[in-house]
Amino acid sequence: MLSERILQVQPSATLEITARARAMRAAGEDVCSFAAGEPDFDTPAFIREAVKTALDQGKTRYGPAAGELVLRRAIAEKFRQDNGLSYTPEQILVTNGCKQALYNLIQVMIQPGDEVLIPAPYWVSYPEMVRLAGGRPVVIPTERATGYKLTPEQLAEAVTPRSRLLILNSPNNPTGAVYQREELQALAEAILRHDLWVISDEIYEKLVYDGAEHLSIAALGEEIYARTLVCNGFAKAYAMTGWRVGYGAGSPEIIAAAANLQGHSTSNVCTFAQYGALAALQGPQAELHRMRQVFGERRRLMCDALAQMPGLGLAPPAGAFYIWVDIRATGLNSVQFCQQVLEQYQVALVPGRAFGDDQHVRLSYATDHTTIAKGMARLAQYLGHLAPLSVGDGKR
Ligand SMILES: Cc1ncc(COP(=O)(O)O)c(C=O)c1O
Repeated sequence: MLSERILQVQPSATLEITARARAMRAAGEDVCSFAAGEPDFDTPAFIREAVKTALDQGKTRYGPAAGELVLRRAIAEKFRQDNGLSYTPEQILVTNGCKQALYNLIQVMIQPGDEVLIPAPYWVSYPEMVRLAGGRPVVIPTERATGYKLTPEQLAEAVTPRSRLLILNSPNNPTGAVYQREELQALAEAILRHDLWVISDEIYEKLVYDGAEHLSIAALGEEIYARTLVCNGFAKAYAMTGWRVGYGAGSPEIIAAAANLQGHSTSNVCTFAQYGALAALQGPQAELHRMRQVFGERRRLMCDALAQMPGLGLAPPAGAFYIWVDIRATGLNSVQFCQQVLEQYQVALVPGRAFGDDQHVRLSYATDHTTIAKGMARLAQYLGHLAPLSVGDGKR
């Protein structure tokens, strides 16, 4: 007794390898994992304290489905200060993580058969969310030569009369790509020219390195502002993945529809957790900067090590905490590569297949320096033992 909708949803391609890595660890094997999709830091103490206070103050009841007004006001202020975007609280929906913002918006924006343009590699859930809404995901592969960024020409080529929406993610998971102003400007023009909407997933906005800047496409003019729904959250910037607090913002009509949907599904996000999120926005930002600095050091360590390895190619990532590595020169697909490195060298990576590209693997540097040094040495050993004929120069 299963619906057609759910039968169309693919199980996660990464599950098998992550389960295997976990089993190996449980059996006492020394696995170096670069599979993490979350910061390895604790939520800053002042945020945890704020929740304890909220609990003691009785913030334990149902609240408005769209979120506590005080938090929506603070998010509006954050948008104004950080992104140069002006939203009223009515244009903001507090959700169970950025994920639910994406899910609800796609549900209320898509008609059956509508095409949703998704640059690949993509975050695993986008195509499945589109399918669950009855839409058709249209995947547009990107290239290392363009830093894995979608170009307006590629967008124009993929557009059909059924195209309705583009899902853009910068800084990007899994590539770490950060779109620059001119690139966003060109995309915004193409989006408007083709009468599309855009969902801009900005969950990694605070994690940018080497002078890279995050810019929201919505900030590039009134017309694109009106056509953009911004999704963001507290998980990555404040090490709050388990709290499940995120938000979406944009057109009042669409946000009201998404709030309506949320009112009939999950209702409000855990009330006291919202007060933790409020503290995150209004409290000192020093911890956020410290975490970013540590991520930046790990990124350097890992990029330097990978750049020395034969058979691998990379476009240095400007944001998030992932490195997207081209393994084409090894002659293996991403699942074979990840299985071999795990079984033979106890290093866990995520196969690119999960992100719509079987010729890459994703490494996360949300882990400590010792694991990075040990894991990189093992990976180098593995590549050294691959049949020399199958390993070309991945940096071509
Ligand atoms: C690109 C991207 N968007 C959204 C999410 C979901 O974030 P949240 O934990 O706030 O739901 C993730 C989490 O990994 C992500 O990588």
